[in-house]
Amino acid sequence: MDHFNLQDGVLHAEAVAIPDIVATHGTPCFIYSRATLTRHYRVFDEALGGLEHLVCYAVKANSNLAVLNVLARLGSGFDIVSVGELERVLEAGGAPDKIVFSGVGKTEAEMARALDVGIKCFNVESLAELERLNAVAAAKGVRAPVSLRINPDVDAGTHPYIATGLKDNKFGIDIAEADAAFERARDLPALDIFGLDCHIGSQLTTLPPFLDALDRLLVLIDRLAERDIQIRHLDLGGGLGIRYQAEEPPLPAAYADAIKQKLGDRGLEILIEPGRAIAGNAGVLVTRVEFLKQQPAKHFAIVDAAMNDLIRPTLYNAWQNIVPVQPREDVPAQRYDIVGPVCESGDWLGRDRDLAIAPGDLLAVRSAGAYGFTMSSNYNSRPRAAEVMVDCETAYLVRARESITDLWRGETVLPA
Ligand code: LLP
Repeated sequence: MDHFNLQDGVLHAEAVAIPDIVATHGTPCFIYSRATLTRHYRVFDEALGGLEHLVCYAVKANSNLAVLNVLARLGSGFDIVSVGELERVLEAGGAPDKIVFSGVGKTEAEMARALDVGIKCFNVESLAELERLNAVAAAKGVRAPVSLRINPDVDAGTHPYIATGLKDNKFGIDIAEADAAFERARDLPALDIFGLDCHIGSQLTTLPPFLDALDRLLVLIDRLAERDIQIRHLDLGGGLGIRYQAEEPPLPAAYADAIKQKLGDRGLEILIEPGRAIAGNAGVLVTRVEFLKQQPAKHFAIVDAAMNDLIRPTLYNAWQNIVPVQPREDVPAQRYDIVGPVCESGDWLGRDRDLAIAPGDLLAVRSAGAYGFTMSSNYNSRPRAAEVMVDCETAYLVRARESITDLWRGETVLPA
């Protein structure tokens, strides 16, 4: 459920009419709903009620400080993958001891900073990373809390670019090598083993792949216990899908119930790292129709947002709903490709959409709160869009639109 609804024929974000936001902040513009973010976080937190647990929001989905701050105030933890994300979380008021640090290529400097601030856990993805983390922690005279990310070799049944739990993906430690990796971690003097984690992919729309992975990890946890390696927390990663079109992903409560059943009385703390399921439907990208172009073979609606603002359609062939902000009946509906001004044929936001629109109209691309702004770029020297967060009847600018001079910030020309 989200808080973007038509009221009196106009799309609103909570109680604010989107055209009013556009009148102040222009287009293209990402608009987020605080109430939706809050609701989605709480649904996960409540679903895991009764278990010792921590919801670690995956910062990569949407790392705007206002988004992180809303979640931090609710008590959320965070899953980060870079020192940049770490600093964002701290800047937004997130608690360091609720941060887990994922990613296959952590640098020494990133490890050092994360140790200094006292994060909850490093999700270690290889033996080489174990050795590096041990050395960085030893040099500081501290012990690093670690979890090993295990690649359980299950097929998440999702787009190949966002499936991460198969043998031939770069992620995690092969489950067949997990025992040896844990033994090595135990023997390294500056590491403390806390957990075991996995993340098998993103936009999963069924439970079996999650449960299959969980089964394999529980077998491993029991086997490790026999060797006196006690796992205290199990981090199941993110990946629960959302409804973009007709998907019917499982509800967090169903996922949590299934987890609880399988866990039995092992007494594990459970961590999850949802990104898309918290932020995805909490945001829209609003864009204005510049031109309608009728080619013999196709009709194009050329809008002022492009693949640099939202790359998911181009990159994954992703379908996101595109709706008029003020639906009208005075023009006939036609079938359009919704395209941006970028010089690539792949620059499209939606294809073959039936819309009754005219130049100047506003369109909202739904489900753009996750992997929207965070994946945006300046391609074609386009300043990145403004970001606005609505809280009840107030809209706050939470990131100013980039200016033209922002485009060359840090650049210099050679001397004359
Ligand atoms: N944890 C780890 C270790 C991850 O790699 C990811 C996402 C998450 C959690 C959060 O997954 P989520 O709950 O959001 O599915 N750009 C792609 C998605 C890439 C996901 C990468 N990892 C897209 O737009 O579909």
